[in-house]
Amino acid sequence: MHQKGTSRITVFLSLAAGFLVLGLSCSYILYTGARENYFRQINTYLQTIAELTALQVNPDNIASLNEPTQTNTPQFQSETNRIEEILTATKSVTHISILKQVGPQYHFVVDASSQGAEQSKSNLLDPADEIPTELTQAVTSRSSVFTDSSHTDRWGTWFSAYAPILNAESQLVGIVAVDSDANKISLGDLELLQKFQVTLAIVIAVCIGMAWLASGPITQSVRQGEVWKSSPHRRIVAEVFLVAVVLGIIFEMGQSHLRNIELIQTQNKITSNQALTSLSTKVLDTIQEGGTPSEEVQRDLDRILITNNYGQIADTFKETIVNPTSFSISKANKSVESLAKLQTASIERMNVLQESQSSANLRLFIGIFLLSISTIVLVRYTANQEFRISQNLENTGSIQAQLSSLIENLPIGLFVIENGKITFANAEWKKQIGIQPTQTDFHPNLLTDAIHTEERGVIVEKITEAVKQAKPFQVQYRIAKPGEPALHVETRAVPVYDTDGVCRQMLAFTVDLTETVIAKREVETAYGEVNHKNKLLSDALAELEKNLESVVKSLVKAVEAKDPYTAGHSERVMQYSLWLGEAIGLGPYERRILELGTLVHDVGKIGIPDAILTKPDRLTDAEYDIIKKHPEYGVNIIGNIEMFRECLPIVRWHHERLDGRGYPDQLKGEEIPVLVRISAIADIFDAMTSTRAYRTGMELDKVLNIMNEISERGEIDAELFATFCQVIHQRGIIPQSVQQEPWKAA
Ligand SMILES: [Fe+2]
Repeated sequence: MHQKGTSRITVFLSLAAGFLVLGLSCSYILYTGARENYFRQINTYLQTIAELTALQVNPDNIASLNEPTQTNTPQFQSETNRIEEILTATKSVTHISILKQVGPQYHFVVDASSQGAEQSKSNLLDPADEIPTELTQAVTSRSSVFTDSSHTDRWGTWFSAYAPILNAESQLVGIVAVDSDANKISLGDLELLQKFQVTLAIVIAVCIGMAWLASGPITQSVRQGEVWKSSPHRRIVAEVFLVAVVLGIIFEMGQSHLRNIELIQTQNKITSNQALTSLSTKVLDTIQEGGTPSEEVQRDLDRILITNNYGQIADTFKETIVNPTSFSISKANKSVESLAKLQTASIERMNVLQESQSSANLRLFIGIFLLSISTIVLVRYTANQEFRISQNLENTGSIQAQLSSLIENLPIGLFVIENGKITFANAEWKKQIGIQPTQTDFHPNLLTDAIHTEERGVIVEKITEAVKQAKPFQVQYRIAKPGEPALHVETRAVPVYDTDGVCRQMLAFTVDLTETVIAKREVETAYGEVNHKNKLLSDALAELEKNLESVVKSLVKAVEAKDPYTAGHSERVMQYSLWLGEAIGLGPYERRILELGTLVHDVGKIGIPDAILTKPDRLTDAEYDIIKKHPEYGVNIIGNIEMFRECLPIVRWHHERLDGRGYPDQLKGEEIPVLVRISAIADIFDAMTSTRAYRTGMELDKVLNIMNEISERGEIDAELFATFCQVIHQRGIIPQSVQQEPWKAA
């Protein structure tokens, strides 16, 4: 918000300055013009009154008044009344006097004062000592003259005009002097000044108001980026234009000053020319009439020639007119003609100068106007530029401050490598490396020395090589600090390129991994312990299993020991089952169940009386019913042992048949699991191929034929049996003798 206010004030001040320069310049020009016009009007008015009075008075009366005692004469009264009438009819004229030249002196003849004037200046033929130069000019030039500036005499300060009174012979008989009180004229001037001051106040107020009103939209446009998009070309053109305008104004002002000087000189020359012409004509007339020019006339002539620098003409005049002895009428006429030409040239020159001055004033006005406009544009442009620069600086400063704060407060270490040296580091890295947070000057070997001696060589070489090639790198190492545990850190660095694509710096980030490393070690330690315990437990379980297996195997062997002819039956059934299981692609888990199940499938026989179990004769139905109880006895024996839980179906159902004619549960078809079916085939096969107390073992082909019939009757799984036939043909019958155990020999 602060930026917003500043911006509008800047724009406002710029606009106000521009408007004020323009407005005040125009006002001043108007004021000086009005003031000049005011004085010109006063002078013209006084001059007109003087000329009119000169025409109104009677030259003969004036010429006749030569004694102070003539105040009662009709001539004096007549002229006095006349100028009093004129004075009454005028405004702002204080005195109208008529003077005449008597010898080298001027004397008052008639004098009238307006009402309010303190006193009349004179009585008849009182000497007039305080004669302004303009009066003399009027006498010599025989034409009316006014005073450019006020003059003071004993009666006051005046603006005056003078007009010659000529008689019928064009001889100068007197001078009309018209005085206007300078104080009253100054009142008018003062009034102009007051009006000018009021105008200035209005102009200033309007300029400030306009600047304020205009600054709003301009500020808005600046904020929206609608600023004058400057280009070097445009700026140069603007600057050249501005310089040209300024130079033009300076040149014009200089020219104007010189022109004014020349104008004044020309005006003086014209006046003196008139006087010179008048005097020389008078002298010529006198000489031609055979007289001698008076000394006074000659002195005036000489004075004019000297003071106005006539050069060659002056010499000729002196030779032909002033000095009667060398007078030549032809040369004198030529001199007067030259003077007339000079006068014409001077008048023409003055006209040219006046016209030139008028157009110069216009050019000056236009120049000041352009300068004002240029100044406004330039100020606005500069204000915009300053606004943008200050905004950019503020933004940049803010971003830099935020960036610095961010870098300093980063929870990871940051340092900069420049030309192989560390030139910057944030607080976290200084903390990691073990130096003061305020340290800004870094030793060249600071990082090298901090790396643990066991890793220093390798790490330094890796970092040095990466920095040299300006390649990103990532290293893990330890920082060794005296009296403290080593810090495990990881440093990742990336090259930073400048606008030319050259790598000037490497920016490196360092993360403290100490806690991570410690945690990892703790996890690894704990994991090792768990592994060790698992192994112990596993070993214990294996041992337990092994023991249980041994117990069960002993039980099985105890069963088989009841009948020497069944010795090794369980292990052979196990082997046949495993062969078949392997052939149909059973997995390790299922093979293990098959192994244990077939091993203990007849364990229930422990509960069958030996007399029935080892009876060499045919069993009775009652005895057979007892035999058929052994699967259930087996389940009862091992049912509570976890390792045999999956084996129970084999123990209970290995005498079930697919056609439902088996025992003990008369299961049918799919009700009998695959592992049970396998064990049934193996059990039947071994029973038929083994020698028993009541018969010898049958040949393989015969056994397979019988089993084929059984299969065809739907008692056993035909598909499994077909595979079993292939397995047996490959591997053959397991010899019964091999399974002989020590107890059998005993
Ligand atoms: Fe059995």
